[in-house]
Amino acid sequence: MAKILVTGGAGYIGSHTRYALEKRGHSVVVADNLSRGYKDAVPAGMLRVIDISETEKMERLLREEAVEAVIHFAAYIAVGESTEKPELYFSNNVSGSLALFEAMLAAGVKRVVFSSSAASYGIPKKVPIPEDEPAAPINPYGESKVMVEVMMRWLDKYRGLRGIPLRYFNACGAEPAAGLGERHDPETHLIPLMLRAVQTGKPMTIFGDDYPTPDGTCIRDYIHVSDLADAHVLCVEHLLNGGASDAFNVGTGDGHSVREVLDAVERVTGKPVPHTMGPRREGDPPSLVADSQKLRRALGWTPQRADLDRIVSDAWAFAQGHR
Ligand code: UFG
Repeated sequence: MAKILVTGGAGYIGSHTRYALEKRGHSVVVADNLSRGYKDAVPAGMLRVIDISETEKMERLLREEAVEAVIHFAAYIAVGESTEKPELYFSNNVSGSLALFEAMLAAGVKRVVFSSSAASYGIPKKVPIPEDEPAAPINPYGESKVMVEVMMRWLDKYRGLRGIPLRYFNACGAEPAAGLGERHDPETHLIPLMLRAVQTGKPMTIFGDDYPTPDGTCIRDYIHVSDLADAHVLCVEHLLNGGASDAFNVGTGDGHSVREVLDAVERVTGKPVPHTMGPRREGDPPSLVADSQKLRRALGWTPQRADLDRIVSDAWAFAQGHR
């Protein structure tokens, strides 16, 4: 079992991955600057409040804790914000990642799993999207992920930094028994917004019903956050066992429309979702579904919680405990 540093481990996917690593018997230290994460998502004693850009502090931490591999989540994730302040995304997501990689090289830690995104594909030509679909991001957030993946490829080739970027589709769901779930501020994601509408009675907006899809609403690949977390555990173990660098999509391979998600939320909560129909949101592709065969074949990953009602009911259990 290994000692693993999780950057951004106080955030949504980071906290679930920390939990999955511990369940597998790994020892974890979390580095998070708490700018967007939650202290109570990390067990007492495990958190180091440090920014990934603080290279010297990070190098010291890696050495003192005898870290063997890093799972790197710390980043900003809001597409809209990235179009208002691209510089924030290049500074935090790109320069921050470079500073972290420099600290890793200085400390001799040469294994990293990186939180990338389906946003790197932009509006893909092929759906389901295979990993060799060219990178063509349509916003600075997606570009920031592509830039880090590019750095990783060169650092792998010339510095032996073995790395796996995981390109997530739509992370959702929760681990309510562990008190973990989705808490973004402001919240922009579909399922938590629908659950909030159920709880508050204030309508949410569906962004467009005139897309070229069967019911006119956008199709996405909703992947349970704990299935995502399991993919990180498999990838970090693969690297620790001497496995090579590679990039993988993480999605279920099944698409659901916004209307189908709404139906699932109504089934699970037993209540109507107050909503209005609005115009399309800028930059939303009609359909994003993963071809996830590569990760299944290479590492034997299979999503265990792919059923949409299961995803919604976990998110609902967490949302009810957090109001
Ligand atoms: N949607 C609504 N109303 C809302 C919010 C979302 O109708 O209030 C719709 C969107 O138009 C989209 C779907 O619900 O069709 C999902 O939207 P989310 O905002 O939940 O997720 P995105 O697909 O936009 O974003 C996700 C990740 C991003 C990533 C992006 C592209 O959260 O980090 O996929 O891969 F950049």
